[in-house]
Amino acid sequence: MTVPELRRWAAPVVYLSNNWISLAGVVIVTTSTVFWLFLLPATLRGVENPYSGILLYLALPALFFSGLILIPLGIAWRRRRERTAGNLPTDFPPLDFRNLELRRLAAFVVLTTFVNVVIAGQLAYSAVNYMDSTGFCGQACHSVMNPEFTAHQAAPHSNVDCVKCHIGPGAGSFVRAKMAGVRQLFALASNTYSRPIPTPVHNLRAARETCGECHASTADFGDRLRVVAKFGAEENNPATKTVLLLHVGGGKRAQGIHGAHLGAGVRIRYAHSDDQRQNIPWVEHRDAAGKVTAFTASDVKAAMPGNLPIREMDCLDCHNRPSHTYEMPEAAVDRALASGAIAASLPFAKQQSMELVKRAYASSAEAAKRIPADFEAYYQQKYPAILASRRPDIVSSAAALAAIYGRNVFPEMKIAWGTYPNHLGHTDSPGCFRCHDDGHVAPGGAKITQDCTTCHNVLAMEEAAPKILSDIGLDK
Ligand code: HEC
Ligand code: HEC
Ligand code: HEC
Ligand code: HEC
Ligand code: HEC
Repeated sequence: MTVPELRRWAAPVVYLSNNWISLAGVVIVTTSTVFWLFLLPATLRGVENPYSGILLYLALPALFFSGLILIPLGIAWRRRRERTAGNLPTDFPPLDFRNLELRRLAAFVVLTTFVNVVIAGQLAYSAVNYMDSTGFCGQACHSVMNPEFTAHQAAPHSNVDCVKCHIGPGAGSFVRAKMAGVRQLFALASNTYSRPIPTPVHNLRAARETCGECHASTADFGDRLRVVAKFGAEENNPATKTVLLLHVGGGKRAQGIHGAHLGAGVRIRYAHSDDQRQNIPWVEHRDAAGKVTAFTASDVKAAMPGNLPIREMDCLDCHNRPSHTYEMPEAAVDRALASGAIAASLPFAKQQSMELVKRAYASSAEAAKRIPADFEAYYQQKYPAILASRRPDIVSSAAALAAIYGRNVFPEMKIAWGTYPNHLGHTDSPGCFRCHDDGHVAPGGAKITQDCTTCHNVLAMEEAAPKILSDIGLDK
């Protein structure tokens, strides 16, 4: 096509595209293009988030093409209208800058593009940042993830953004996160997501990459003292203390709990027969010297593993709840009593708290209303004098109790007490005892130990006034 031919062909297009439908199309096309160009580098630089990907690969292209369709639609519309009105010119104005239509169109495109560049640069940048934020994951998009968001706020990692653990840099996780993000968006829109969200999370990035970004796996934590306060259900809420010296260890000498599983050269693999990794019939241990021992659960035939999935042990096999740390009711209430959030001097505070917090409520809102009301009602009925003289204590205790429920139980997502077991320990769920049960035996007869003192010295067990604490001045 020669230049004059092209001009002759384009002249009616320019003339006819001067209508509001086509112009809207032009605005949409330029806007989405400019946004796309601004988002591209931000997304390629540090792709942390599937939703900027949704924007980049789904929303903006969809917008672009719908804008593109509007332009010929507008042209066809104007052509039809002018033809019915009988004033469709047979000879279109020539395509040079004496042509008013062309000047208008050009000015329009230049102006909208300029405005777009100014606005889009700002918007695109803050959109990417916003989508990487904890607020976005936990609230804006994922009402579904309100439980994780709430539990996250109360955990030591509350300052670590969701994307730091869940989505990371690197091409592989980029693509995977995009796909997952799209799938999740559809599940959210069609209301087909699982309640509760199932764990373990399968394509979580390797712990070495996520946790390792901030925690050196070679750190030596030595021994750690743990004091666990507990309260009885009697009228005076009798307090006891359990004192543990936990051999966390680690470091160059690869000792203690960390060292035994993660020391240099050590590698532990295991097979699990359920998706939750609660049932572990086979464990293989390679020690630092390279010696390999396989342990099988005594109630499983030696043929293990058959076709069971095998996983290499890492941080998450113990710290599976580093961020969404849901509590168990008794531990949570004991902690609140120990800190004073619930007043331990109120008669039967422990017993009443346990009763109210373990009841079934239809919704979070109902629990938030009923728990404080029923807590006060109890004192009103049984101890009216105490209610009269200590109302502020009772009101604040009731609020603390409602908060415990509120951050751990989510009826709307079918999350009850203990829905998400914590592997760090062995009292509320099997945890360490999934392997350390004295029932995993090697061919030579060696067992994965359950000896209490390999993991911790129990310095006091539910004592009212442990001597060890007064000896080291911690009895105050
Ligand atoms: C310190 C790392 C870390 C941070 C920060 C983090 N998570 Fe997680 N999250 C995990 C791990 C590890 C699991 C896997 C638990 C399992 O497999 O049992 C998980 C599991 C989940 C699950 C599956 C359901 C569940 O409760 O186990 C959801 C949903 C989730 N996280 C959302 C979020 C959201 C939303 C945020 C931000 C508010 C967030 N995560 C922040 C580490 C983290
Ligand atoms: C962005 C940095 C960052 C990442 C990523 C991170 N952590 Fe942490 N973690 C911290 C900081 C900071 C603390 C100390 C918080 C405090 O004491 O308040 C901490 C504390 C902890 C603690 C002690 C908490 C306690 O209960 O006392 C554990 C255990 C832990 N992290 C495990 C993990 C695991 C497992 C992962 C990977 C899933 C992980 N962290 C990922 C920064 C991080
Ligand atoms: C075999 C189980 C196990 C594995 C695997 C494991 N941890 Fe731990 N870790 C523990 C236990 C138990 C504690 C002590 C918990 C406590 O203090 O209540 C602990 C404590 C910690 C602490 C807190 C130390 C302190 O007291 O300040 C951090 C941080 C931590 N682990 C990070 C990690 C990281 C990162 C990994 C992976 C490289 C990891 N852990 C792997 C069991 C494990
Ligand atoms: C997947 C199985 C598995 C789980 C879960 C597990 N361990 Fe182990 N652990 C092993 C194996 C295998 C060994 C090495 C076997 C041996 O030497 O007896 C080991 C060794 C140890 C040792 C050193 C024992 C010794 O004799 O020196 C300690 C301490 C330990 N584990 C603590 C823990 C703690 C604490 C937890 C829970 C937070 C835990 N383990 C969870 C498999 C596991
Ligand atoms: C494989 C390691 C391991 C073995 C073996 C083990 N424990 Fe523990 N124990 C732990 C860990 C880890 C915790 C959790 C510490 C924490 O919450 O920070 C714990 C917690 C406890 C607690 C405090 C629980 C609470 O109420 O909060 C008691 C009590 C306890 N263990 C008693 C025992 C006794 C008794 C034995 C021997 C039958 C034993 N443990 C064997 C690892 C072990």
